[in-house]
Amino acid sequence: MDAGRCIRVEGRAYLGGRLVRVRIGAAGCKTLQLPRGFLILPGMVDIHVHFRDWELAYKETLEGGARAALAGGVVAVGDMPNVKPFIRTAELYRKRLEEGARLPVIYRLHMGVPEDLSELEKARPLSVKVYPEDIETYGWGHVERVMKECARLECAVIFHCEDPAYFSDGERPPEAELRCAERVRALAALTGARVHLAHVTLPQVVEMSRGWASVDVTPHHLLLDSENCRDRGLCLVNPRLRTPETRKSLLAALAAGLVDIYATDHAPHAAHEKRSESPPPGVCSIEIALSLLLRMWKAGVLALEDAVRLYSYRPARFLRVDADPLSGVFTIVRLEEFRVQGNDFIGACKLTPFEGMLAFGRVVATAVGGRVYFRDGEIYELASASRAA
Ligand code: DOR
Repeated sequence: MDAGRCIRVEGRAYLGGRLVRVRIGAAGCKTLQLPRGFLILPGMVDIHVHFRDWELAYKETLEGGARAALAGGVVAVGDMPNVKPFIRTAELYRKRLEEGARLPVIYRLHMGVPEDLSELEKARPLSVKVYPEDIETYGWGHVERVMKECARLECAVIFHCEDPAYFSDGERPPEAELRCAERVRALAALTGARVHLAHVTLPQVVEMSRGWASVDVTPHHLLLDSENCRDRGLCLVNPRLRTPETRKSLLAALAAGLVDIYATDHAPHAAHEKRSESPPPGVCSIEIALSLLLRMWKAGVLALEDAVRLYSYRPARFLRVDADPLSGVFTIVRLEEFRVQGNDFIGACKLTPFEGMLAFGRVVATAVGGRVYFRDGEIYELASASRAA
């Protein structure tokens, strides 16, 4: 390998629950000695992103989404099927996976609810995503059949859990989330399906999920609420931001170790859409999600071990990826405080309700697939032979 383009990284890493010195990469390569103040972490894994593309490429593309992920220290993503056309067939599922396989991040895809259940057998997806719109369109009976089929095929069923029967006049009250979770709990018992509840906002739902579902929470439901986030377009998201009391209880549930996964639901929309009279729901955060989590560590809300469990180990298991630094999958952060600036974002989406918020730990580089991607655009090859020293 050309020593000019290949790199070996030496420094402090958080590995297996401890701070250790590591050397990643082979001898003969240019060596990057990380001084104190830098930390190597396992690669972050985000199970919930919207990379859009296809007919929604004006919002974001697979390429742009992947670059944004790398800028945020994320090495693997679980992309959502609500693109245009919606991914509900084995053919579209495979087509998208082929495109995703060419990206510099590890790409996984959650399949949309198919009208014809035989598509599940053909696609053999890792997981199926159920939206409130699916419940509305196909009914709970169809959802139950999807769960049964997924129990047989061993795919997980991910719920955006809000029962549309409780929506009224454009409002989506917390009750819709609670009632949906109760209903899905009964269906999980009936069908034996492996259930994951996405972007849970209510501490009661986190509590009641024990034993039958895993749950994730987003940075926006943990840090933003109906009081501290008031911009009509930027703060609009589904499920909605809740009251400060609910948000703080959710944060307490996270601190108590009751949450399985931290995931962004990174949902790019065009600036003109977010600034329009009827803005679409969604928040962009993949580039700063790790730094927001590390800020929670710095503030004493959780331990570093929790941060790594929530945004790396546990989601890596969910998506079945290897996020171990010694196998060349890692992120390097500079341990400093900074304020979020959407203009610094590399992806297409630069409008974020986190603008100006304090964050900690700037991502300097992310390594995956034998390459190290530095924030300044430099890319180096990573030869094998790594060890903890
Ligand atoms: O706020 C949201 N935006 N919630 C969703 O469920 C979908 C997402 C999107 O695709 O924009």
